[in-house]
Amino acid sequence: TQRTLVLLKPDAVKRGQVGEIVRRIEAKGYGLVALELRDATPEVLAEHYAEHEGKPFYQPLVDFMLSGPVVAIVLEGERCIEGFRSLAGATDPTAAAPGTIRGDLGRDWGLKVQQNLVHGSDSEESAAREIGIWFPHL
Ligand code: GTP
Ligand code: MG
Repeated sequence: TQRTLVLLKPDAVKRGQVGEIVRRIEAKGYGLVALELRDATPEVLAEHYAEHEGKPFYQPLVDFMLSGPVVAIVLEGERCIEGFRSLAGATDPTAAAPGTIRGDLGRDWGLKVQQNLVHGSDSEESAAREIGIWFPHL
Protein backbone atom coordinates (compact mmCIF):
# COMPACT_ATOMS: atom_id res chain seq x y z
CA THR A 1 0.00 0.00 0.00
CA GLN A 2 1.22 3.47 -0.92
CA ARG A 3 1.43 6.83 0.77
CA THR A 4 1.28 10.19 -1.00
CA LEU A 5 1.67 13.84 -0.01
CA VAL A 6 -1.28 16.09 -0.74
CA LEU A 7 -1.37 19.85 -0.23
CA LEU A 8 -4.54 21.89 -0.16
CA LYS A 9 -3.19 25.18 -1.50
CA PRO A 10 -4.04 28.65 -0.10
CA ASP A 11 -6.88 29.13 -2.62
CA ALA A 12 -8.61 25.97 -1.30
CA VAL A 13 -8.34 27.22 2.30
CA LYS A 14 -9.44 30.80 1.47
CA ARG A 15 -12.41 29.60 -0.56
CA GLY A 16 -13.62 27.25 2.15
CA GLN A 17 -13.07 24.08 0.08
CA VAL A 18 -11.06 22.10 2.66
CA GLY A 19 -14.05 20.07 3.84
CA GLU A 20 -15.25 19.30 0.31
CA ILE A 21 -11.80 18.15 -0.82
CA VAL A 22 -11.19 16.02 2.28
CA ARG A 23 -14.69 14.57 1.80
CA ARG A 24 -13.75 13.44 -1.70
CA ILE A 25 -10.50 11.87 -0.45
CA GLU A 26 -12.32 9.97 2.29
CA ALA A 27 -15.17 8.98 -0.06
CA LYS A 28 -12.56 7.38 -2.31
CA GLY A 29 -11.54 5.25 0.66
CA TYR A 30 -8.07 6.62 1.37
CA GLY A 31 -6.86 6.77 4.94
CA LEU A 32 -5.56 9.95 6.59
CA VAL A 33 -2.11 9.39 8.09
CA ALA A 34 -1.42 13.07 8.85
CA LEU A 35 -3.36 16.29 8.33
CA GLU A 36 -2.26 19.75 9.45
CA LEU A 37 -3.14 23.38 8.71
CA ARG A 38 0.08 25.34 8.60
CA ASP A 39 1.99 28.18 6.98
CA ALA A 40 4.48 27.05 4.36
CA THR A 41 7.97 28.58 4.56
CA PRO A 42 10.35 29.67 1.78
CA GLU A 43 12.73 26.89 2.86
CA VAL A 44 10.12 24.13 2.66
CA LEU A 45 8.83 25.42 -0.69
CA ALA A 46 12.33 25.64 -2.18
CA GLU A 47 12.76 21.94 -1.43
CA HIS A 48 9.24 20.98 -2.44
CA TYR A 49 9.39 22.78 -5.79
CA ALA A 50 13.12 22.21 -6.51
CA GLU A 51 12.30 20.60 -9.90
CA HIS A 52 10.61 23.85 -11.05
CA GLU A 53 13.39 26.25 -10.02
CA GLY A 54 14.28 28.55 -12.92
CA LYS A 55 10.92 28.15 -14.69
CA PRO A 56 8.96 31.37 -15.34
CA PHE A 57 6.14 30.36 -13.01
CA TYR A 58 8.43 29.36 -10.12
CA GLN A 59 8.50 32.63 -8.14
CA PRO A 60 4.78 33.42 -8.64
CA LEU A 61 4.03 29.86 -7.50
CA VAL A 62 6.15 30.19 -4.37
CA ASP A 63 4.62 33.62 -3.60
CA PHE A 64 1.15 32.16 -4.02
CA MET A 65 1.97 29.24 -1.71
CA LEU A 66 3.07 31.79 0.92
CA SER A 67 -0.11 33.88 0.56
CA GLY A 68 -1.99 31.98 3.27
CA PRO A 69 -2.05 28.72 5.18
CA VAL A 70 -2.07 25.35 3.43
CA VAL A 71 -3.34 21.98 4.61
CA ALA A 72 -0.64 19.32 4.38
CA ILE A 73 -1.92 15.75 4.25
CA VAL A 74 -0.42 12.28 4.02
CA LEU A 75 -2.79 9.73 2.50
CA GLU A 76 -2.56 5.97 2.54
CA GLY A 77 -4.17 3.46 0.21
CA GLU A 78 -3.69 1.06 -2.68
CA ARG A 79 -2.21 3.04 -5.63
CA CYS A 80 -3.16 6.31 -3.94
CA ILE A 81 -0.45 8.29 -5.80
CA GLU A 82 -2.09 7.71 -9.17
CA GLY A 83 -5.53 7.64 -7.56
CA PHE A 84 -5.26 11.05 -5.97
CA ARG A 85 -3.91 12.63 -9.17
CA SER A 86 -6.90 11.16 -10.94
CA LEU A 87 -9.22 12.71 -8.32
CA ALA A 88 -7.41 16.06 -8.70
CA GLY A 89 -7.66 16.28 -12.50
CA ALA A 90 -5.51 18.17 -14.98
CA THR A 91 -3.16 20.94 -13.76
CA ASP A 92 -5.11 23.66 -15.61
CA PRO A 93 -8.55 23.99 -13.95
CA THR A 94 -10.17 24.93 -17.26
CA ALA A 95 -8.90 21.73 -18.90
CA ALA A 96 -9.64 19.52 -15.86
CA ALA A 97 -12.55 17.13 -16.42
CA PRO A 98 -15.84 17.56 -14.57
CA GLY A 99 -15.93 15.14 -11.65
CA THR A 100 -12.39 16.04 -10.60
CA ILE A 101 -11.44 18.42 -7.78
CA ARG A 102 -9.91 20.96 -10.16
CA GLY A 103 -12.63 20.44 -12.77
CA ASP A 104 -15.52 20.88 -10.34
CA LEU A 105 -14.10 23.40 -7.86
CA GLY A 106 -11.25 25.18 -9.65
CA ARG A 107 -11.74 28.40 -11.51
CA ASP A 108 -9.61 30.16 -14.07
CA TRP A 109 -7.72 33.15 -12.63
CA GLY A 110 -6.24 34.26 -15.95
CA LEU A 111 -2.51 33.67 -16.04
CA LYS A 112 -2.47 32.34 -12.48
CA VAL A 113 -2.61 28.64 -13.39
CA GLN A 114 -0.88 27.94 -10.09
CA GLN A 115 -4.18 28.51 -8.24
CA ASN A 116 -5.40 24.98 -8.82
CA LEU A 117 -6.44 24.02 -5.27
CA VAL A 118 -4.31 20.93 -4.68
CA HIS A 119 -0.95 19.27 -5.07
CA GLY A 120 -0.36 15.52 -5.21
CA SER A 121 2.96 13.66 -5.45
CA ASP A 122 3.57 12.27 -8.94
CA SER A 123 5.61 9.09 -8.20
CA GLU A 124 6.71 6.84 -5.33
CA GLU A 125 10.06 8.63 -5.35
CA SER A 126 8.41 12.09 -5.15
CA ALA A 127 6.02 10.90 -2.46
CA ALA A 128 8.85 9.66 -0.23
CA ARG A 129 10.82 12.87 -0.82
CA GLU A 130 7.85 15.19 -0.21
CA ILE A 131 6.57 13.35 2.88
CA GLY A 132 10.10 13.77 4.27
CA ILE A 133 9.97 17.51 3.63
CA TRP A 134 6.55 18.19 5.16
CA PHE A 135 6.44 15.49 7.86
CA PRO A 136 10.04 14.61 8.76
CA HIS A 137 8.89 12.48 11.71
CA LEU A 138 6.90 10.08 9.46
P1 GTP B 1 1.04 19.49 -8.55
O1 GTP B 1 0.21 18.33 -8.08
O2 GTP B 1 0.72 20.78 -7.86
O3 GTP B 1 2.52 19.18 -8.60
O4 GTP B 1 0.52 19.74 -10.03
P2 GTP B 1 0.98 19.07 -11.34
O5 GTP B 1 1.88 17.91 -11.08
O6 GTP B 1 -0.26 18.88 -12.13
O7 GTP B 1 1.83 20.23 -11.99
P3 GTP B 1 3.41 20.47 -12.04
O8 GTP B 1 4.12 19.60 -11.04
O9 GTP B 1 3.82 20.44 -13.45
O10 GTP B 1 3.49 21.99 -11.53
C1 GTP B 1 3.42 22.29 -10.16
C2 GTP B 1 2.51 23.45 -9.97
O11 GTP B 1 3.06 24.57 -10.62
C3 GTP B 1 1.13 23.28 -10.60
O12 GTP B 1 0.19 22.64 -9.76
C4 GTP B 1 0.73 24.71 -10.79
O13 GTP B 1 0.29 25.24 -9.54
C5 GTP B 1 2.04 25.39 -11.16
N1 GTP B 1 2.22 25.44 -12.61
C6 GTP B 1 2.56 24.43 -13.44
N2 GTP B 1 2.65 24.84 -14.71
C7 GTP B 1 2.34 26.17 -14.68
C8 GTP B 1 2.29 27.18 -15.69
O14 GTP B 1 2.51 26.94 -16.86
N3 GTP B 1 1.96 28.43 -15.26
C9 GTP B 1 1.71 28.73 -13.96
N4 GTP B 1 1.40 29.98 -13.62
N5 GTP B 1 1.77 27.80 -12.99
C10 GTP B 1 2.08 26.54 -13.34
MG1 MG C 1 3.71 18.03 -9.89
